[in-house]
This record gives sequence, C-alpha cells and structure tokens, in this order.
Amino acid sequence: MVNCPTHQLEVEGISVHYGRRQVLHNMTFAPMRAGRVTALLGPNGSGKSTLMRGIAGLTRAEGHIRLAGQDLSKLGVGERARLAAYLPQSLPPAVHLQVIEAVMVARRAGEAVSAECALRESTDVLEELGIGQLALRYMDELSGGQRQMVGLAQALVRRPAMLLLDEPLSALDLRYQFAVMDVVRRETRKRHIVTLLVVHDLNIALQRAHDVVYMRDGQLVAQGAVMAVTTPAVLAKVYGVQTRLEVCPRGLPHVLVDGIMGDSA
Ligand SMILES: Nc1ncnc2c1ncn2[C@@H]1O[C@H](COP(=O)(O)OP(=O)(O)OP(=O)(O)O)[C@@H](O)[C@H]1O
Ligand SMILES: [Mg+2]
Repeated sequence: MVNCPTHQLEVEGISVHYGRRQVLHNMTFAPMRAGRVTALLGPNGSGKSTLMRGIAGLTRAEGHIRLAGQDLSKLGVGERARLAAYLPQSLPPAVHLQVIEAVMVARRAGEAVSAECALRESTDVLEELGIGQLALRYMDELSGGQRQMVGLAQALVRRPAMLLLDEPLSALDLRYQFAVMDVVRRETRKRHIVTLLVVHDLNIALQRAHDVVYMRDGQLVAQGAVMAVTTPAVLAKVYGVQTRLEVCPRGLPHVLVDGIMGDSA
C-alpha cells in the first residue's frame, strides 16, 4: 500500500467519449488527499460513474490520473486494480459462493496471501462492517443490501491505496448507510487512503464526507470542503432546485428543498 504524507489523487484534463458523444469535458480537479472522504455528487446522467470508471481504468479516458505521483495510465491492468478498489454501481451477478469465500477470493486476487491469513482478514472486515453473521451464507441467496455490504467488504479487504465506491449506499437501510459511512471514514483515515464515493443523498454527504465534488453535464461545478462549497447557488446550478442550508443544534448541516426551479406551483 502506498503510504506517505503526500499521497493524493490528481486528475487533470480528463475527457471521455462514448462513440462520437463526449460525456466528460476536460475536467481538472484539485488534488484529493489521502485520509479524507470525498463525495461526488451530481444529477443522473452527469457523468459520475463514467468518471469513476475512467479513474479506475475501466473506461478509456484522455488526461492525466496520478496517485501518489504515479501515472496510473502507465500501469498494467492488474497493478492498477491492486492500487484502486472499485465498487461498481450495479453489482455483477452473484456466484454460488459463501460470503467468506467470496471475500477471501478478493483478498487473494493478485497477491499471494496464505489461506489462514486471508480467512482472518476477511472475518475481521465482515465483523467491522457488522455483517459477520452473513459469513456462511451464499452470495446468490443474499438481499440487495446484503450483497452491497459484501461488495464493500471485498473492496476493503484488498487493502487498496484508493477506494472508488459508486453509490455504495443505494440499497442500504438507514442504519447501514451511516454504519458504512462511519467505517469508510475510519478506514480512510487509519489506512491513509484516498476515498471517492458517489452518493445521491446530499444530507449524508454533508454530514459524513470531508470534501465534495459537484458536477453537471460532464463538467466540474465546485469542489472543496463540504461547508465551504455547498451553497444554495451551487445547488441551484447543479440540480436546479431552491434550497436552504441549515445547521441543527448539534452543529450538523442539512439541506431543505423549497422548490424546483422553473416550477411555478
Ligand atoms: N456505455 C455507455 N455507452 C454510451 N453512453 C453511455 C454509456 N454509459 C453511460 N453513458 C451515457 O453517459 C452519460 C453519463 O452517464 P453516467 O452513467 O456516467 O452518469 P451518472 O452521473 O453516473 O448517472 P446516475 O446518477 O444515473 O448513475 C449519460 O448520458 C449516459 O447515458
Ligand atoms: Mg452512475
């Protein structure tokens, strides 16, 4: 694992085309620092998943992507996959494996680790995520949310230098949404890794992420510390909604939506 004080993700001039259609337009971000959780937000179809896949090396992208100063485009597929763990928005079809086996397979992919060590680390990750009770269940017999939790366990157990999570909360109940954000924050800090995650729930992003990136139509709208860049003007530009930002008595920010712009009702 890359582990140094200057560890950060740099993305410069990234563009992606699907056929002749350009979906990401020469996007340049401020460096995303290790130890901090960055939430990527934007409307449906704005290019969030395309950006995540581009950074993971799964979609062809022009531009420069460096992690801890290392140009990721110069790495082979295997080496890049070892550095960056990517959790896709739609999980692949489940195989008939027990949960613990599936997590162990993820741990041993691309790295020679003894079965004993993989078993211990896989058990620890499941416990940490609060899903130890699923260890002996079969992947193809889990609920959508349970599978999403196991997908996250598979990403974490690989000990990546960067976590790329595309809507990791989308199938989770309220408790697991916050449990996952807390685990992701803790692991990001403890392992000093770069974490970028897509969420649609603005309030959970405001309350649990350190930084936010707002994008629209394949372009960057705003980036920075959560409370520094989240304003009604930015939210109007990104989502076309009228909002109020309030801080509860315990100091946590939340957004209230008053209306949809262009809607006179
Ligand atoms: N494989 C593909 N081929 C062609 N067009 C694609 C492909 N994948 C995505 N697109 C298009 O690229 C644009 C960005 O899609 P993307 O999936 O990155 O959006 P998103 O921000 O992740 O949206 P959502 O919030 O709905 O997941 C959309 O217009 C989409 O239709
Ligand atoms: Mg998406």
